[in-house]
Order: sequence, then C-alpha cells, then structure tokens
Amino acid sequence: VGAEDAAYLVSKIRTIPGFPKEGILFRDFMPVLADARAFGILMGALEAALPVDVDDFDMVAGLEARGFLFGPALAARLGKGFIAVRKAGKLPPETISQSYDLEYGQASMEIETNVVHGGVRVLIVDDLIATGGTANAARSLIEKCGGVVAGFSFVMELTGIDGMKSLGDYPTSSLVCMP
Ligand code: PRP
Ligand code: ADE
Repeated sequence: VGAEDAAYLVSKIRTIPGFPKEGILFRDFMPVLADARAFGILMGALEAALPVDVDDFDMVAGLEARGFLFGPALAARLGKGFIAVRKAGKLPPETISQSYDLEYGQASMEIETNVVHGGVRVLIVDDLIATGGTANAARSLIEKCGGVVAGFSFVMELTGIDGMKSLGDYPTSSLVCMP
C-alpha cells in the first residue's frame, strides 16, 4: 500500500472520546467501509499484510460484530470459507462458549462445533485488538474444536495495552497502530 493510500485509509478512522464509557477513546472504522476508495484500500492492505502465507490457512474466522463487516469479504477474496464467531445466545446447538474480558466490559462468545473440522487452519480477523480478550476467546474456541489457529489479522491495534503480547507466539498483523 502506498503512502498516499495509507494516509487516506487512516483519515477515514473516526475517534470518539468517552464512548461507550468515560476514559475510552473509541476507534471507529465504519467510515472506512462507507467510502468505496477506503474500503478497497483496506481489503488490499489486509491481503498484502497477511501474517502467514495464503496457502497456510484454510478458513477465515470473523468475530461478531465488526469482524463480520470485512471478514467474509476477505475470505471470498482469498478463496476461503468463513466461520462466524458469535456473541452468546445467537447460534443454535451444538455450540461451545467462552467468556472473556475486553477493554470496556465482559462478554461470552460461541462457535458451532461442527464448522471447525479437526486440523483445519484458521486465520482469525477483527477490526481492533485492545486487551486481546476477544481474540484469545476466539482462539480458545477454535482450538477446543480441534482447529489450528494460523494467525490473527487486525485492522487496528491499540498501543500501550499489550493486547498483541497476550496472543503469545502466533503470527499477527495489524494495519494501523494507535493509542
Ligand atoms: C470490540 C472490537 C473487538 C474487541 C476488542 O468489539 O470489535 O472485537 O472489542 O477488545 P479486546 O481486545 O479488549 O477484547 P465489541 O465487544 O465492542 O463488540 P462489537 O464488535 O459487537 O461492537
Ligand atoms: N474495543 C475495545 N476497545 C476499543 C476501542 N478503544 N475502540 C473501539 N473498539 C474497541
């Protein structure tokens, strides 16, 4: 991605101080999706920055809700299937659940046990990593189903909060670092 395109992409990320709680700088990438040029740059940049070779994973897993906004598009672009990792209570059985903490609360997410076949290699994608609580919960679900986490791709990485460190040695990529 050229410098001009990178700057254009970053210019479309909106910051809302105090949302959803006091003290949080909320980073909002919805304006990227609303802008055809920025959305195109985003998809090309995610592909160019994949943390592992495209042949080293079989499926893309997106995390509800914002990982659903571009994860399926990335999967289709790469010729992969998509796995929905959903917030608790939305999927019919058989599911497994994992609760987790995130920057501004606590939640639980679920996956359908029959979509992750043993040994399938999965790239986990989300818009943003803060504490890493959400990403680690997704990793744990995929591994409990017998899947192999090939790596993690994020659009944004919050600095000073060590979320990437919480992912250990897995290959990771993020396009934009911000406080
Ligand atoms: C946000 C974001 C990530 C997560 C990151 O989702 O989209 O999934 O928080 O935080 P963490 O690294 O501290 O876990 P949120 O739970 O707000 O849900 P949403 O996507 O439904 O808006
Ligand atoms: N998820 C966790 N922390 C966040 C933040 N600061 N902005 C947007 N989404 C988030």
